[in-house]
Amino acid sequence: MLRLGFLASHTGSNMQAIIDACTAGTLAAEPCVVVSNNSQSGALARARQANIAAYHLSAQTHGEALGGAILAALQRHRAEVICLAGYMKRLGAEVLTAYEGRILNIHPSLLPKFGGQGMYGMRVHEAVLAAGEQESGATVHLVDEEYDQGRVLAQEKVPVKAGDAPETLQKRVLAVEHRLYAATLVRIAAGKIPIPLPHCRA
Ligand code: GRF
Repeated sequence: MLRLGFLASHTGSNMQAIIDACTAGTLAAEPCVVVSNNSQSGALARARQANIAAYHLSAQTHGEALGGAILAALQRHRAEVICLAGYMKRLGAEVLTAYEGRILNIHPSLLPKFGGQGMYGMRVHEAVLAAGEQESGATVHLVDEEYDQGRVLAQEKVPVKAGDAPETLQKRVLAVEHRLYAATLVRIAAGKIPIPLPHCRA
C-alpha cells in the first residue's frame, strides 16, 4: 500500500476524493498524515473525521523550524508520496529534498497556462475567462522549488461554456480535479507512472 501524506490549507475536497478512493478500494493506498497551516481548515476536520493523523503546523506555530517540523510529521507516519491539495504555502527545502520526485500537486488549469505565482483559486478561472479561452482543465504535476513548473503527470480538458462565470467554471473544473488526482495516484500505485519510491518500503 502506497502511504500518502497530504498538505492542505482550506476545504480539502481533493484530499477527500483521494481518501474516498482509498476507502472504496479503487486506489491501493493509505492516507497516513495530513498537515495544514490553517487550524480551521476543512482539511484538518476531514482528516480527524477519517481518523487520519492531523497536524496544524504553520510559520506562527513553528517559525524557522517549520520545514523541519513538517518533514518530521511526514516521516513519523512513513508517508511515501506527498499530495499537495490546495496548499497555499511554498514548501521548505527540507521536504523538497527528502521527497524529491514524490511530491504531487493539482492545479485548476491546463499548465503551463495560467500557472505561477499569484495564480490560485478563483484568480485562475477569472484569468481563463478574461483571456477568452475555449477550454480550461486540470493538471496533476510534480512539485519542485518553482510554482507550478514540475513535470506534468496528467491533464484533462474542461470546456469553457458561453455565459460561464468564474464560479461555474471552477465547479466544472473541480469535479474533474477530484477524478483526475485519484486516477493519477492509481497509475502511480500500479507503477504505470514511475516515481522514485524509497527502497525500504514497509
Ligand atoms: C483546487 O482547485 C486545486 O486545484 C488548487 O486548490 C484547490 C483546492 O481545493 N490547488 P480543495 O481544498 O481540494 O477543495
